[in-house]
Amino acid sequence: MRTLPRLFENNRQWAASLRASQPDFFSKLAASQTPEYLWIGCSDSRVPANEIVGLLPGDLFVHRNVGNLVIHSDFNCLSVLQYAVDLLKIKHVIVCGHYGCGGVKAAMSAQPHGLVDNWLRHIRDIYHRQQAKLDALANETERLHRLCELNVIEQVINVGNTTIVQDAWGRGQELAIHGWIYDLADGLLRNLEVCVTSPRELDLLQANR
Ligand code: CO
Repeated sequence: MRTLPRLFENNRQWAASLRASQPDFFSKLAASQTPEYLWIGCSDSRVPANEIVGLLPGDLFVHRNVGNLVIHSDFNCLSVLQYAVDLLKIKHVIVCGHYGCGGVKAAMSAQPHGLVDNWLRHIRDIYHRQQAKLDALANETERLHRLCELNVIEQVINVGNTTIVQDAWGRGQELAIHGWIYDLADGLLRNLEVCVTSPRELDLLQANR
């Protein structure tokens, strides 16, 4: 209970195999990080950010929460974003949702889930705003699929509207925000084609969502 030997053994093997292929891997990384990407994804254990995109430690700055949400007053997420944009000067923010998201599913259901419902309320708001489009879909599975996608698009817009990104664009810093979705069933990413790189593109996406 107090020790988790399997995890420590895994860790020793993992570090050893990385050292075997690149002897100076950890000493180099310990000195500094220069990731190009910020990943904002769901906490779901089936969506491990680095693995999905085949990136090693040092390549991906990561923020994860239930439902991959970017809330205007969430200082945790905003602090990660600010550090990534202002200090690390990352070039890409990737908002990545996933099909079959438990958070999105819970937000669509009338059943109470406790405190997390307050967080999921943000997804429920999207559901209500898009209800006409969602109701037009054939069944519950399709509605869940679509709401997972719409949630990503909404979070891309939220990233774009932060003072952090607005200021970065304002001073001419190159920064793209991407919206992707991951399919648990085949392990593949899909690009939702909602990339925004300027206030103008953000306006267009907001008008056409
Ligand atoms: Co999820």
